[in-house]
Amino acid sequence: MASKKNINIKLKVWRQKKASEKGQMVDYSLNEVSTDSSFLEMLDQLNEQLVNERKEPIAFDHDCREGICGMCSLYINGRAHGPDTGVTTCQLHMRSFKDGDTIYVEPWRSKAFPVIKDLVVDRSSFDRIQQAGGFISVNTSGNTIDANATPINKEDADKAFEAAACIGCGACVATCKNGSAMLFVGAKVSQYALLPQGKVEATNRVLNMVRQMDEEGFGNCTNTGACEIECPKGISLENIARMNREYLKASLK
Ligand code: SF4
Ligand code: FES
Repeated sequence: MASKKNINIKLKVWRQKKASEKGQMVDYSLNEVSTDSSFLEMLDQLNEQLVNERKEPIAFDHDCREGICGMCSLYINGRAHGPDTGVTTCQLHMRSFKDGDTIYVEPWRSKAFPVIKDLVVDRSSFDRIQQAGGFISVNTSGNTIDANATPINKEDADKAFEAAACIGCGACVATCKNGSAMLFVGAKVSQYALLPQGKVEATNRVLNMVRQMDEEGFGNCTNTGACEIECPKGISLENIARMNREYLKASLK
């Protein structure tokens, strides 16, 4: 049976009361943290300690805690989603840290993701990009064609599936030195551009989504590739190239 190990850690956590107030890093000590606990469970433990001390708990985003919803969004020791690759913050475990470690916890930093409180940022800019074109229009009057009735070659189906794995977490933006959202938008455009169902609205989709992305204040892509490295779902830079091709094609129409 695996032996249970507890560690004592120090934390430096970004605290900010609201968007209009200045924030700062605040020091905390937390003892007896099980290495079997997840990073978010460790924050729960810290919040219990703060409540017991009659202090305000730390606000942070989470929902599924299974790497699916994209809500958890923390910069941990200078890396989006922490030191492990291919995982979200909620999938990160305390076994990745050592007894006596000091852990820095910050929110995503990007002009287009303003801090709401502590570690929570406003990512509604992603929602507005999705609303601008990240969908297909389907007639649901009763004559809807079964999606599986449309033949799609395996390579395109696989690539669309890979692009659809994007959970909209925003780590790509937080990691990019320019605050670019090209990997996210590239994934969303590719997901549909590769499939026959998505081709009908392809022209408007890419033009509208890119326009909305620019309006939201995201930076430009300079092909650094940090987004691909830190993306927990392994979304490939290939999707940015595909979006650029789709955009050029749509602009020439
Ligand atoms: S491309 Fe990756 S890092 Fe960016 S939002 Fe999607 S899943 Fe998150
Ligand atoms: S809480 Fe849902 S992906 Fe982390």
